[in-house]
Amino acid sequence: MPPVANTISDLIKVAMGRIPADQILENCNLFSVYTGETIPDTQIAIYKDRIAYVGPDASHTHGPETSTVDLNGRHVGPGFADPHIHIDQFVMPSEFAGEALLHGVTSLFSDPIDVVSVTGHKGFDEFLRLGRGLPVRIFQTVPGGLPVDPRFSNSCNMIVEEAESVRNNPDVVGMGEIFSWTKVTDCDVRTIQSIYKMRESDCIINGHTAGASGRKLGAYVASGIISCHEPINFDQTIERLRLGMWIMIREGSIRRDLKHIVPRILSDRTYLDRLMFCSDGLDPASIRRHGHIDYCVQQAVELGMRHVDAVTMATRNVFDYYGMSRDLGVIAPGRLADILVFDDVQKSFRPSKVIVGGKTMVSDGRLTVRIPPSKIPQWIKQTVATPEVHARDFEIRSAVQRTDGGGDSVNQAGPDSGYCRQDAAAAGPDTITANTIVLKTEIVTGLGSAEIVVDGNGCTALPSSAESDVWKVAALDRIGGTGRRCIGFLEGFGGSIGAFGSTWSFHENDMIIIGSNDADMAHVANHLRQKQGGIAASHNGRTVASMPLQFAGIISTAPFDRVLEEFGQINRTLADFGCRFEHPILVPLFLPFLALPSVRITSGGIIDIKRGEYVNPIAA
Ligand SMILES: [Fe+2]
Repeated sequence: MPPVANTISDLIKVAMGRIPADQILENCNLFSVYTGETIPDTQIAIYKDRIAYVGPDASHTHGPETSTVDLNGRHVGPGFADPHIHIDQFVMPSEFAGEALLHGVTSLFSDPIDVVSVTGHKGFDEFLRLGRGLPVRIFQTVPGGLPVDPRFSNSCNMIVEEAESVRNNPDVVGMGEIFSWTKVTDCDVRTIQSIYKMRESDCIINGHTAGASGRKLGAYVASGIISCHEPINFDQTIERLRLGMWIMIREGSIRRDLKHIVPRILSDRTYLDRLMFCSDGLDPASIRRHGHIDYCVQQAVELGMRHVDAVTMATRNVFDYYGMSRDLGVIAPGRLADILVFDDVQKSFRPSKVIVGGKTMVSDGRLTVRIPPSKIPQWIKQTVATPEVHARDFEIRSAVQRTDGGGDSVNQAGPDSGYCRQDAAAAGPDTITANTIVLKTEIVTGLGSAEIVVDGNGCTALPSSAESDVWKVAALDRIGGTGRRCIGFLEGFGGSIGAFGSTWSFHENDMIIIGSNDADMAHVANHLRQKQGGIAASHNGRTVASMPLQFAGIISTAPFDRVLEEFGQINRTLADFGCRFEHPILVPLFLPFLALPSVRITSGGIIDIKRGEYVNPIAA
């Protein structure tokens, strides 16, 4: 936040007409987010990066050098803010900044959990650096959700002392979502320590209470975590509001909840003061197709919300929540001059003009500033330590591997399982029963079973995936260089692609490969290894789609438009091969995500989340 101390006297002098303003916006139809009015014929005087005067007549602030813009009655409001977004996804912050500005988002509250899960504190520092000097304001939160489950997790994280040390950084405003809410309700020592330290320094801690209700939800709130972006309907929203929580209504790539919440808010006349919009993350196609917070405002208005109320949720409420309303979230004297101009709010809330800190960043709907690409250190582009693999590394053997003529299984599912070659009945029948991970959606899983044929060497032979929809799924350690991997079975991916894989997953640092044959699985793994990160598909030994993600294996270093094209190519390719999901990238992303039920896979094994235990891929 730029310091105000040096300019206080000057701002007062401008407001009194003793020294001139730099620019005046005339004839504004102002969204007044403290009164709920829309005030016509308003004039706004700006001095340096702040607003000096707001009222009917700014002529007393006019001087020979003052520039004046007549907005001819256009609507004007504060810059939009996204209170919870993982901007360490898909594109570099410098690339995302331009897209956000075009949609009127001038402040981003970033939770760089993906970067920290791969690179720890060092990566957080790097991400702080990358967020500075951009034409959009990026406020960082220290990721609070790692490790997701210490029993099974393979992620890096920031220890309490590290989190505390960055608190003094002016760009750090608090702690990011603590999404394993049971760690709070179970009083996990490390989690409580983090909360305690953050509260001690008066920090905001973002919440994540998916599925919590009643006594458990109340206990979570008792910890001092008072926000959530997980409500998916009105009932969950109102239960949290009644407990004093702030709600970020999510409208992003992974979930779109707004239309399930806003209509009842309007019909029930629910107070709006503690409601915000957030994205939680946007893929390149989503922001280009729908927009960002401007789309949320537009949607809310189309559902019947008053224009000024929707704008208030997108602006003032965010800064009230973060305790930053002295500086941001309203067009008023003394505040930073983050201002949006809308040509026709009956049609769109995408602004034609965007001013950030008194500087015009967007004019006539186009960026007026060039945002240079970020300088990226080499070390963070070399995070894929998976050894080269071969087709045979993806075999799942059904026969017990005997070491001394005895019948003991040498491999159990779990962290000591080496290659995780699986045990089962030794003198097996021609088919065995496999435990499968069933994809109910891209995100929701269940435990299933399938009959798998066993060949003469004891290897399981997948039935044709195109017909049976049974696949192999592999999780390969990608940062430790251990060669550890787990191979299991998956159902419900759909289609006939050879293999599809990604180095970006929540948040276990495993390369996830889904395949109908071992050769293509090996091809994708080696391709991702060679690219040092990315998402790719292979068929008949040929790469058919590839999106390199060189920054920590999770973010592309390419320009936005190229990433958009590669993202589209991945989706089109999977669709062409018959994948049944609209967002196939979410499948490898969520397969290791230990914060969700019911079955997940990491390089340590397949995990039944509710039971908290490993599952063998072949039923005993
Ligand atoms: Fe999130």
